[in-house]
Amino acid sequence: MATHKLLLLPGDGIGPEVMAEVRRVLAVIERKGLIAFEIDEDLVGGSAYDVHGKAISDEAVAKAHAADAVLLGAVGGPKWDGVAYEHRPEAGLLRLRKDLELFANLRPAICYPALADASALKRELVDGLDLMIVRELTGGVYFGEPKEITDLPNGQKRAVDTQVYETYEIERIAEVAFELARVRGNRVTSAEKRNVMKSGLLWNQVVTATHAQGYEDVKLDHMLADALGMQLVRAPKQFDVIVTDNLFGDILSDVASMLTGSLGMLPSASLGAEDPVTGKRKALYEPVHGSAPDIAGKGVANPLAMIASLAMALKYSLGKPDLADTLDRAIAAVLANGYRTGDIYVEGAKRVGTAEMGEAVAAAF
Ligand code: NAI
Ligand code: MG
Repeated sequence: MATHKLLLLPGDGIGPEVMAEVRRVLAVIERKGLIAFEIDEDLVGGSAYDVHGKAISDEAVAKAHAADAVLLGAVGGPKWDGVAYEHRPEAGLLRLRKDLELFANLRPAICYPALADASALKRELVDGLDLMIVRELTGGVYFGEPKEITDLPNGQKRAVDTQVYETYEIERIAEVAFELARVRGNRVTSAEKRNVMKSGLLWNQVVTATHAQGYEDVKLDHMLADALGMQLVRAPKQFDVIVTDNLFGDILSDVASMLTGSLGMLPSASLGAEDPVTGKRKALYEPVHGSAPDIAGKGVANPLAMIASLAMALKYSLGKPDLADTLDRAIAAVLANGYRTGDIYVEGAKRVGTAEMGEAVAAAF
């Protein structure tokens, strides 16, 4: 059996608490002989700064390069508020994203039936929802040049941001979307504004061309980004994988994630370039939430976003979609049995802490 290299970076605040529950689940998966892991652990964020004087060591970055998947808890906290800008806890995460060239941000919106009533939408619209937004993360209007505010002779000011995309950037994100669709519902919806943006027109053409080069088995649709925003709230279950640029993806992924409840439930992934030798993609998996200093150290954090991030790693990096589904079903079962951490508590439920929630998922696996 091939060994899969995992690097765990628990980080700060509730990061180590939720990561401990990932370790518990990993131990069960190993004990059942389902997959063999080589697990390494290192520091990131404020906890790395305290030891190394910077938010991630070169050694930890090298380990991240060598890993099949990196799992990160969270970084930051008031303890490091006074630290110089370049050494802030976030710098560790940013360095990883940049060094591993993580250009594809994956944000799923999964609605566990037991939590469907917590959604802002009606239960029937979200019950069973499982969609994935693939957002381009390293290009587009957030990075394009020129980017400036200039003074005009008439005393007014002029602000410019520039949306730039080159063919290769669109091609590689489209490939990620098509590959993900193959281990999901086999459908991709590409969103842009080709009606008013040249970059949208190129986006549309390159996604179409990439589809024709070996991804014809995946169903592809195009939708204008504003119309897609509407459809996301009107009938979200029509979507499987949505691929879009940095700006539209930023907005649409926040909308999609809130179709399904609490911050403590939301996993994410960031994927990078394919290794030319192994063909594997660099990958970082992390919950959407931060280090939650207000509840850190109390043992009450919801570990499900972190555990669901492990499920994503199993599906998208470790070639084990079946184990990922088993893990997602274990999470669903635990919720169906009424287990709730404080953030998702409803009257009459079983209030549990971080460890009890992790134990319950491990037992249900
Ligand atoms: P946050 O996500 O840490 O917390 C927001 C609220 O949600 C808090 O009330 C918190 O208790 C709650 N919450 C978050 N995760 C939870 C969980 N798993 N279970 C139960 N409740 C949970 O965001 P906030 O407060 O804005 O930032 C706190 C620190 O985290 C800051 O230093 C910030 O820079 C950092 N941060 C780090 C991120 C990362 O590592 N990727 C992302 C966002 C913030
Ligand atoms: Mg955002």
